[in-house]
Amino acid sequence: MPRQILVTSALPYANGAIHLGHLVEYIQTDIWVRFQKSQGHDCLYFCADDTHGTPIMIRARNEGITPEELVARIHREHVADFQDFLIGFDNYHSTHSAENRQLAEEIYNNLQQAGHIAVETVHQAYCNHDAMFLPDRFIRGTCPKCAAVDQYGDSCEHCSATYSPLELRDAFCALCGEHPVAKSSEHLFFQLGHFESFLKEWTRSGALQAEMANKLEEWFASGLKNWDISRDGPYFGFAIPGQSNKFFYVWLDAPIGYMASTLNYCQRTGRSFAEYWHPDSQAEVYHFIGKDILYFHTLFWPAMLKGAGYRTPTAVFAHGFLTVNGQKMSKSRGTFLNARTYLQHLDPEYLRYYYACKLSNRVDDLDLNLDDFVQRVNADMVGKVVNLASRTAGFLHKSFSGQLCADYPEDGGLYHAFVQTGDEIAQYYENREYAKAMRAIMALADQANRYIEEHAPWNLAKQGEMDALQAVCSVAINLFRVLMTYLAPVLPQLANKTCNLLNLANLHWQSCRQPLCGTTIQPFSHLLARIDSKQIDALLAAARPQEPTKEQQKAAAVVVAPPPPQPLPSSAATLPTINLDHFAQVDLRVARIVQAELVAGADKLLKLTLDLGSLGSRTVFAGIRAAYTPESLSGRLTVVVANLAPRKMKFGLSEGMVLAASHPNDPDKSALYLLSPDSGAEPGMRIQ
Ligand code: MSP
Ligand code: ZN
Repeated sequence: MPRQILVTSALPYANGAIHLGHLVEYIQTDIWVRFQKSQGHDCLYFCADDTHGTPIMIRARNEGITPEELVARIHREHVADFQDFLIGFDNYHSTHSAENRQLAEEIYNNLQQAGHIAVETVHQAYCNHDAMFLPDRFIRGTCPKCAAVDQYGDSCEHCSATYSPLELRDAFCALCGEHPVAKSSEHLFFQLGHFESFLKEWTRSGALQAEMANKLEEWFASGLKNWDISRDGPYFGFAIPGQSNKFFYVWLDAPIGYMASTLNYCQRTGRSFAEYWHPDSQAEVYHFIGKDILYFHTLFWPAMLKGAGYRTPTAVFAHGFLTVNGQKMSKSRGTFLNARTYLQHLDPEYLRYYYACKLSNRVDDLDLNLDDFVQRVNADMVGKVVNLASRTAGFLHKSFSGQLCADYPEDGGLYHAFVQTGDEIAQYYENREYAKAMRAIMALADQANRYIEEHAPWNLAKQGEMDALQAVCSVAINLFRVLMTYLAPVLPQLANKTCNLLNLANLHWQSCRQPLCGTTIQPFSHLLARIDSKQIDALLAAARPQEPTKEQQKAAAVVVAPPPPQPLPSSAATLPTINLDHFAQVDLRVARIVQAELVAGADKLLKLTLDLGSLGSRTVFAGIRAAYTPESLSGRLTVVVANLAPRKMKFGLSEGMVLAASHPNDPDKSALYLLSPDSGAEPGMRIQ
């Protein structure tokens, strides 16, 4: 009986690019879905972009576009990335969609009518300047526990303390730098506690991995708290029916996106939505997620579904996090690898295979070790699998018009053993034990390679033993086909090329129980190249941090500007702060010093001729003679205040000011350090 299965991966946020960490999840899920399809099951794979919330709203604002425009652009990028990594979604939708609005409203109304929504007053940080409540991540300040400065509103990266944003000392708004005030507002809360006994039962029903069930026990023990599901405007999201200026919190409508994607697909294809989500649904529903979003998927989500009268998931499968060369992906180390950057240097199937080799059904983190990656891909995919075909297909073409033996030759029981092992491998896939599946497949590949070594078709060809040659090559091609059938969920592109080579319509699991006899194969054409370690070097070079673009600088300004009011030692004076608008009045530009000259009668000054790109040329008199000779300056870049009112000096007009650092205790400025941008900057660029 074919099973009816609905599978989802977590919905990626629409405010950033897909990276190799995300891909652990999408590749893991895609392999499982392709496996189920190859077994003949009716399996559908749905996903969507997660589009709502403050970060997306702010990012769009910083880019000077509407959230809708941002969401549409990221959607195109995500779809292209997923396609190129061969992630075969049956539907990729968006949470900012009519279907999602309809379902979110309905689920909320059902919960409300059933008495699961309460109103509570909350006190929250509010920025008067931005006229908005600030989410924890948009407040920075000093940790109330360890006094580390510049920490987020909810937790300290220094001492790991967690706290409420109102406890933060010297708090400031990450958008404008002003001190937030405490303001109260009425919020809507989902009463999770109503679902405690249901959730306990659901947890024990086999829906969760053992490690996750343990985690839930901890959460039950510490008590289920009501969940704040509303946010006050301005907020990019869906307005809550019957409320004014209140919106669903992004995490309320995000998982509903799984259903919205189903609904959109069903409306498009004429299939039945109820078959999947009705409380009596016989379909299996599985959510693949990362371990960081367990709480949402194992408590809030099943409780919401239950409370609103829908079916609950059959199981939630959580995986661990990706590290690269043993460490968290890091922009500064150049190991923050975006999907697109990877694709510019390497074949997606290399990564699919490598992840498969590393994945189990546990929640452990997994490491992308780049040396191991090269070694495994080259040794296994190319050395053990593709070589079976490349070493034998040529002989079949040269001497037998591409035809395989009419009867399957004696092979010492190899083919039979290959088919037998298929059940074990299928079980591994079903249980998401991909590493074990890959090991079992490679053990078969070793046997096939030993067979070829022992029967040395190249010698048979030389000696003119034509029957034996055709037999050995037919066996090799058949074993290759079985291996590729088992690898097809991981390597769909290579599987397609195999179908073309062998003149097959597909590589369905069961079809390979019978060997291919008397059929012809196509001339061998290149299947897969080895990785050259230079490709890895190029990938890492491309991922290394570069000069931030103007756009990135603007986006970064969200969290870094302006400087936080730091607690100063008691002897120091408190510096008055300025806001972003004040700072923006100073027009700082990159300038090239075209010429530097001594000034007769002024032993502290140099006369600089500056090139400011599109702003033209300027003359500036700078008091830097004590620290710089004219020769040492000519040609170098520096930073200049470009909108300083010109000053008439004894020696001429000074049209700006160059910036240099000096020690506060050195009023004579004998030691000076002229500022200069990193290489690559050009005259006229604005500093902001
Ligand atoms: N938008 C939420 C999910 C909503 S689901 C209703 C979200 N988005 S995310 O873009 O941050 O992450 C998407 C998925 O990728 C999550 O399951 C997350 O755990 C996973 N990963 C993100 N970074 C990862 C690694 N570095 N390693 C492994 N998985 C990672 O969370
Ligand atoms: Zn503000």
